[in-house]
Order: sequence, then C-alpha cells, then structure tokens
Amino acid sequence: MDTTAFTAVENSLYLTLDGRALDACAPRPVLGDPTASGIVAALGHDPAAGPLVKSQVFDIAVRSRLLDDVVRSFVGRHPDAVVLELGCGLDGRIERVQPPSTVDWYDLDLPAVVSVRERLLPAHPHVHPVAADLTDPAWLERIPAGRPAVAVADGLVAFLPQDAFVALLAGIAGRFPTGEIAFNSYTRFHVWAIKHYRGTGSIAGVVANPGFDDPGDPQRWVPKLVLADEQFASRAPEVALQPLALRWFTRLAARSTAVSRRGTCVLRYRF
Ligand SMILES: C[S@@+](CC[C@H](N)C(=O)[O-])C[C@H]1O[C@@H](n2cnc3c(N)ncnc32)[C@H](O)[C@@H]1O
Repeated sequence: MDTTAFTAVENSLYLTLDGRALDACAPRPVLGDPTASGIVAALGHDPAAGPLVKSQVFDIAVRSRLLDDVVRSFVGRHPDAVVLELGCGLDGRIERVQPPSTVDWYDLDLPAVVSVRERLLPAHPHVHPVAADLTDPAWLERIPAGRPAVAVADGLVAFLPQDAFVALLAGIAGRFPTGEIAFNSYTRFHVWAIKHYRGTGSIAGVVANPGFDDPGDPQRWVPKLVLADEQFASRAPEVALQPLALRWFTRLAARSTAVSRRGTCVLRYRF
C-alpha cells in the first residue's frame, strides 16, 4: 500500500499507530490492540524503527484507552448516538469500543488517509468514512444532526490553527442537540517540546496550534461547552504496569497537577 505521498501532517498517524502497535507486543500491554499490529504488518512498516521511547508508547496507549472509555460510556447512555472520530488516522477504535449496532460512526480525516484506511480496515455497516479537511466546517453538513454526538480527537489538535480549532469546537457544539467532545490536550509546553525534541522532528514544522494551559479556556471560547473532566496519564491505574524506574518517576509527577498537565492529559467537555 503506497503511503509515500503522505504529507508530514498525514504521516503523523504513524506516531500513534506505532505507539499502539508497540504496546500490543509489550509483555504487559496497556491497550493490547491487535488491530494496530495487523495494520503495521499489512503496511510492511516496522514500528520499532520509529522514534518512540517507552514512556511515549505508554502515553499513547493510555490516552487511547481514556478516549475509548469516553466513547464507550457515551454510547452506553445514548445508543442512538453518532460518534465522530476526528483525525482518525489508521486507528481502529471501533474494534476496541464495540458500540451497539444502533450507533453510527463517522471516521474523518484528510482524503489521502481515508483512502488508505478504506483499503486497510475492515468495512462495517455502521461506519462512514468521511474525507474532509477539518479546518473547513463544511464537513459538518455531511453528518446527520438531531442525534446525540460524541466527538473524540486523538493527536489532532496540534495540527489545527487556533481559529480552526475553536471553529471546530463551536461547529460540533452547535450542530447536535447534546453531546461530548474529548481530546488529548497540547499545552504551550507540549508545543515547544514537539518543536525541539528530536523524536518528533518529523512534525515540528507542521504543528499549527499554539497550545493552551488552562483546561477552562475552551469553555470561554465556546460558551456551550462545560468542562466535565481532566484526566492525566500520570494518574491512570496502568502506571502499575510500567517498569520500576518509570513508575517511580510517574508517581512522583502524579502528585502535582501542574506537572501532570505537562504530560499526557485528556479533556472532556459536555454541551
Ligand atoms: C497524530 S495523527 C493521529 C491519528 C489517529 N487519531 C490515531 O490516534 O492514530 C493526527 C491525524 O490528524 C489528521 N489531521 C491533521 N489535520 C487534519 C485536518 N485539517 N483535517 C483532517 N484530518 C487532519 C492527520 O491526517 C492524522 O491522521
């Protein structure tokens, strides 16, 4: 399968895909997602050749699990929901969540990614691939309004200019009668680190969001949003699965909210 024409933004999907694939073959996996291993094998891609270190693999797996839980809980309460997987890359979240058949699931990403995705991931009667640039709000017209919606974005926000990010939040909160939006956040420190850390050099030039430090900001930008919770990877139960030194370091970080925010964090808003 040819992914050589992917842009740097599209190529970013390998970071998260690799993280889940490496987690799946770890002795004590956090997520244990066999779909990720299957996809890298089908692509002939070696995740171990990538830049990820153990702590990043852990973070990627934990944030996937946290976002899976958001979707699982929402569709459990709203079996008529629509799920919006924003910047889906080659993530097989639906296989992990296994929503009821009454749920409609929309996988959104740039056209080149959706085209590869359609060839790699199993078709599903309730999954709708949507090729769209999420900085253009026109995509929302293609999703049926009138049903509760849960939108999740894993690794997307860093690539959205601030005005497009706010417009995305406002567009979703304005289109559906009720719902939730959850994503891993990028603080200004994260954005700085992505631009300076050698391992994330491939995306340094295409990170477009400045990051934000206060999880209350999105509800100020979009008054329909209410912060429901902020979850830190440093405080996840899976920390117990980390090797001793990493576990010790993470537990120390977990004592401080300010320090934990510098690590992986999933924010959830209701509307
Ligand atoms: C870091 S990857 C994460 C992919 C996937 N969520 C995962 O966890 O594996 C970011 C994804 O966002 C997509 N993306 C970035 N900017 C986008 C845009 N403006 N519109 C649609 N998708 C976008 C990229 O193509 C890529 O697939």
